Amino acid sequence: MSASTEAAGSKSPSKPDAKAPDTRGLAGQTVGDTSICAVTQTELIYRGYEIADLAEHATFEEVAYLLLMGEKPTPAQAKSFHAELAGMRDVPAEVASMLAAIVKASPTTHPMSLLRTGVSLLSHRDPECEDNAPDAELRKAKRLLAKIPTLIGIGQAAWDGRAVPANDPGMTHAAYLLLMLTGKKPTELAARIMDVSLILYAEHDFNASTFACRVIASTETDLHSAICGGIGALKGALHGGANEMAMEMLKEIDRDCAGGRMSVDAWMKQAFETKRKLMGFGHRVYKNGDHRAGILRRWGLKLAEQQGTASKKWFDLGDEVQAIMLRDKAIHPNVDFPCGMTYFVMGIPVPQYTPIFVAARIVGWSAHVMEQHANNRIIRPLASYVGADRRKWNG
Ligand SMILES: CC(C)(COP(=O)(O)OP(=O)(O)OC[C@H]1O[C@@H](n2cnc3c(N)ncnc32)[C@H](O)[C@@H]1OP(=O)(O)O)[C@@H](O)C(=O)NCCC(=O)NCCS
Repeated sequence: MSASTEAAGSKSPSKPDAKAPDTRGLAGQTVGDTSICAVTQTELIYRGYEIADLAEHATFEEVAYLLLMGEKPTPAQAKSFHAELAGMRDVPAEVASMLAAIVKASPTTHPMSLLRTGVSLLSHRDPECEDNAPDAELRKAKRLLAKIPTLIGIGQAAWDGRAVPANDPGMTHAAYLLLMLTGKKPTELAARIMDVSLILYAEHDFNASTFACRVIASTETDLHSAICGGIGALKGALHGGANEMAMEMLKEIDRDCAGGRMSVDAWMKQAFETKRKLMGFGHRVYKNGDHRAGILRRWGLKLAEQQGTASKKWFDLGDEVQAIMLRDKAIHPNVDFPCGMTYFVMGIPVPQYTPIFVAARIVGWSAHVMEQHANNRIIRPLASYVGADRRKWNG
């Protein structure tokens, strides 16, 4: 049907009939090429390397280098990349004081909103903000990667009423991020778990936030503007916000079922009857499970077991919920489900879980913005009109 014949009739937007594939939300549609990442039912590949291989053998900084530069770094390149990032962590004093003032004035603001503002504030102080040349974009991407943990730390320190810890350039990105989040130097195991989670979160082809970044970048606007849009998209409960919501849901189940008041089975039955979405479950692409979930669960469980029953109980509860979801709905957990439990036993405040996702995904977003700019055409699809029939303003 042409756009003009459609405009003559009035249809209400509705779910397509049961037989036709449901393509709302661009489901099942390939909308462009990328050489950064491949997401299939069976694999997740970053520039040719499989995710389990990277989580086992690489560091987050090496993966960041791979995604931004296209190739695995040599040991010397990895060392100098680490030093370069570690030397750029500080943010301008006025950016820090403006963020702290926002927390003071609006303590209930969400850390993702604060982070979005933080990136926007940094844009004003980035001398290359308006320069979209490939080398300038790479430098801006590295600066943002280095500074995002500091932005997160400024907010958390303001909420906790403590000073922002000083930079320790010897710390890895993951260890520094944990220092910023908790105010304490992390253990080696905690830093490694954070490192793995950042690797798992770094990139995922045309997910909603990355696609948002690419759409924004396609207008030939600047990297910081695209990243602000990416943060806004990631914040939503159906996307990155799910790691916080998954933990909140587990806490709710724990409360409702405490002292045998209710079984987990009964809680889940009630959730299914009310058509409640269970956070941390399901995925647009992975229908047989998310490869990242098992990797992160193993690391989180290792820490929980070390810490004892008060921590392990969250993994036991998670396993029970997961088994019921599989048995009754055939829906698998995604990476956000074990992520919630893992960050919880690491002592990280729940509202900071999605900002941690940003500290990793900034790499994927930046790589995609650069890929979009390297071969740009504005992203402007068509819409099928289903609105009112033609009518006259004056009768
Ligand atoms: C990720 C998500 C947005 C994918 O959405 P989608 O591709 O449109 O979902 P699907 O088409 O696979 O859903 C198929 C069916 O499973 C149901 N379903 C999917 N995920 C579900 C969940 N987490 N809890 C309960 N039911 C779920 C849907 O409601 C749908 O049921 P219906 O056919 O009766 O309407 C969705 O699974 C979801 O909302 N999950 C919870 C949020 C989350 O964890 N997000 C992080 C993703 S990494």
